[in-house]
Amino acid sequence: MRTPVVAGNWKMHKTAAEAAAFVEAVRPVASKVTEREIIIAPAFPALAAAAAAAQGSNIQISGQNLHWESHGAYTGEVSADMLVAAGCSHVIIGHSERRQHFGETDGAVHLKVLAALDAGLTPIVCVGETLEQREAGNTETVLREQWSAGVGGLEPAQFARLIIAYEPVWAIGTGRTATPEIAEAAHAEIRSLATERFGGEIAESVRILYGGSVKPSNFAGLLDCPNIDGGLVGGASLPAGSFSDLLLA
Ligand code: PGA
Repeated sequence: MRTPVVAGNWKMHKTAAEAAAFVEAVRPVASKVTEREIIIAPAFPALAAAAAAAQGSNIQISGQNLHWESHGAYTGEVSADMLVAAGCSHVIIGHSERRQHFGETDGAVHLKVLAALDAGLTPIVCVGETLEQREAGNTETVLREQWSAGVGGLEPAQFARLIIAYEPVWAIGTGRTATPEIAEAAHAEIRSLATERFGGEIAESVRILYGGSVKPSNFAGLLDCPNIDGGLVGGASLPAGSFSDLLLA
């Protein structure tokens, strides 16, 4: 059985104080949620405050990005060990906004995944096609390429530690959620890539989250799909009330 994940990707929102207040507000609801894994991904300066507020709760903390080197002259970057020291258990890697605005490649995703695993973090690796790619009928090819170059080269034991997020770029922040049918088809495709490369047992155990305009009102329908194991949620994860509704959806 795969435990569903509710992960909030806060992007460039919330200060340290706002993050701590959010965690205080969500803790009582989260404490009643036993059958879901709960993760929030604050911005770097808010990680330690969020982690301190979440201490002793079932709310886990994730980075939104990392550098693959452990230290060095990389102005503006943060290493896996720094995330661990700040209280992170997870890190988002290869988000489409990183790919689109910061030139992140599948090769960089691969290096980041290795660095995260080495430090004991659980990578949440994002893949997904743009609208143009979908309309050109290239969704499967794009997913296959991103998946193969990003995580296909891992050892089976490494791959087993990942969480994958399918995030169609056209659905992110647009209010245009993929229908459960469209999302399920992509998730099934990703799981079949995993089966081909790593075998059924590992492929069946890996969680594949859906991301792209998830809201409390559409989350249950997505979660009902056999290959959708949770959500990576942006906008609707920011208000404590809406995040709490997602936990209970
Ligand atoms: P959204 O973002 O829920 O605001 O569409 C999702 C994401 O980018 O992870």
